[in-house]
Amino acid sequence: LRVAMLYGGFSAEREVSLSSGRECAAAARSLGHEVVAIDVTRDVAGLVAALTPRPDVVLNALHGRWGEDGCVQGLLNLLDIPYTHSGVLASALAMDKPTAKRVFEAAGLRCPGGEVLHRSLVEAGDPMPRPYVVKPIDEGSSVGVTIVQPGDNKPAIHDGAWPYGDAVLVEPYIPGRELTVAVMGDRALAVTELRPKQGFYSYEAKYTEGKTEHLVPAPVPQAIYDQAMDEAVAAHRALGCRGVSRADFRYDDRPGQGEAGGLYLLEVNTQPGMTPLSLVPEQAAHLGISFPELIGWMLEQAAC
Ligand code: DAL
Ligand code: MG
Repeated sequence: LRVAMLYGGFSAEREVSLSSGRECAAAARSLGHEVVAIDVTRDVAGLVAALTPRPDVVLNALHGRWGEDGCVQGLLNLLDIPYTHSGVLASALAMDKPTAKRVFEAAGLRCPGGEVLHRSLVEAGDPMPRPYVVKPIDEGSSVGVTIVQPGDNKPAIHDGAWPYGDAVLVEPYIPGRELTVAVMGDRALAVTELRPKQGFYSYEAKYTEGKTEHLVPAPVPQAIYDQAMDEAVAAHRALGCRGVSRADFRYDDRPGQGEAGGLYLLEVNTQPGMTPLSLVPEQAAHLGISFPELIGWMLEQAAC
C-alpha cells in the first residue's frame, strides 16, 4: 500500500506523536508498504498538498487536539482518503472529557463525578473537598493534570501558566490503582496496571524509561479484571470507535468502601500512544501480536 503517515502535529503531545510515528512508520515499512511520513504543522494547506499524490490509506499517528479530536478526520473525509482509528464523531466525543463522561454514563459505565468550572473558580479556592483532580477538558498524556491532596499548597493552576483554556474539569480523586485496557475492534486485549515509582502516572512517568512499572496481566481480582475488559469494549462501542482504542481506569481497592469502591472509567483514548513505552503495543505483544501485525491490522480497518 501507499501509506501516508501523519505524525507530530501541534498539540501539547507533539513529542509523543513524533515518537509514536517513528515506530508506526518502521512497522509499516517492515510489512512492505511504501510510507511517506508527513510531519503535520499548522500549515494545513501544506498538509492537503502533501496528500494530493493520493495515498491508499492514512496511518494517523497524531495525538491530542486537531489530530485526535475529529478535525483531521473530517479533513480526510472531505478528501475521501481512508484513515486508521476512529472517525469524526467518536474522536470528538472522546476528546472532550465531560461529553465522553455523559456518553459513558448513559451506557451504564461509572465515571468519577466532576464539574466543568471556570478556571477562576478553582483559583479562588477549593471547588470541592480534597483530594480532587484538575485537568484540561481536552488534552492527553496527563498534560496539565494536577492532583490536589489535603495539605498541598494551592494547585499549579494558580501560578498563571495555564495555556489550556478557561474551562477546566474538576473531579474527585479516586484513590487506589491505575489500570488500562486496549481494545482492538471488538476485543479487549488485556488489563495493565501502571505503578509509577513516584507520584501519579504523569507525563514524565509515562514517557521516561524506568519511571513506571507496567504489570500485565494486572494483579487484580478476576472479577475486576473481567469488568475492566468488558467496560473497555462497552466504552469503545458507546463512543462508536473504530480500530484501536484504549480505556483508562482507576480502581479503588481500599477495604470497606462498599459501593464507592471498585472501577471508575476515566477516559477513552482514540489515538493511543504507540511509543516504545506505550501500552497498546505492550498488551498486543503479551498476546503474541507483534507491533507490525498490530499496524497491519489497523491499516486493514482504515475507512472514511
Ligand atoms: N494520549 C496518549 C498518547 C495516550 O493515551 O497514549
Ligand atoms: Mg488520554
